[in-house]
Amino acid sequence: MEKSYKKLIDGNRKFAMEKKQDDPDYFKRLSLGQEPQYLWIGCSDSRVPANEVTRTAGGEIFVHRNIANMVVHTDVNLMSVLDYAVSILKVKHIIVCGHYGCGGIKAAMKPESFGYVDSWLRNIKEVYIKHAEGLNKIEDFEERTNRLCELNVIEQVRNLAKTKIIQEAWKIRKLQIHGWVYGLENGLIKELDTVIDQIKDLEDVFHYKNI
Ligand code: CO
Repeated sequence: MEKSYKKLIDGNRKFAMEKKQDDPDYFKRLSLGQEPQYLWIGCSDSRVPANEVTRTAGGEIFVHRNIANMVVHTDVNLMSVLDYAVSILKVKHIIVCGHYGCGGIKAAMKPESFGYVDSWLRNIKEVYIKHAEGLNKIEDFEERTNRLCELNVIEQVRNLAKTKIIQEAWKIRKLQIHGWVYGLENGLIKELDTVIDQIKDLEDVFHYKNI
C-alpha cells in the first residue's frame, strides 16, 4: 500500500486504541447519539481543523466547511446543514470561522478566471465591492487580503441572520452567531466584534415578519 495512504489507516488504529484506553466508554457513548452545542462554518483549508484548533473532541462540534467559509442561500448543502443543526440538534452557537491568508479570498481579489470556482468566488467579489472604499486604501496586498477575510466573515454572519431558519429559531430560543478569524501564523483565533443574537441586529428589509 502506498505509504502516504497507509499512514491514515495506521493513524486510525492508534486513535481508536488510545481513545479507548483514556475513556473506555467513549465510543459506546458517542454511538448512542450526538448533542453538539456548536455549528462551525469554516474554510475547507486543511490548516484549520475545527476540533484541533479549539481543543474539542468528536461529538462537540457539528461542522460544515467550504471554500472561504461562505453562507450562500442557494447552497443546498449549507442550508441543509444549517437547518439540521438549528432545528434538530438545537445548537446554541454558530461560528463562522475564516482565516488570514485565505486562498479563496486572495483568488477572489484578482481579475482572473480560476475555472469552475469562479461562480463561488463571485460571492466574495460582491463583498469586496461593498467595502471597496476602505479596502482600496490598504496598499499592501496581504494586508488587504486579511481585512477582506475579516469583512467576509462579518458578511457571512449577517447572511446567516437573513435566513428563515435562524429567524424562526430566535422566535423561540436563544442562539448566537459569532465571527472568528484564525491566524495561520500563530494558531490564535480573533473574535470579531460581530456577535448577532437577535433580529434587531439586521436591517428591517431582511426580517420575515410573517413567520
Ligand atoms: Co481559506
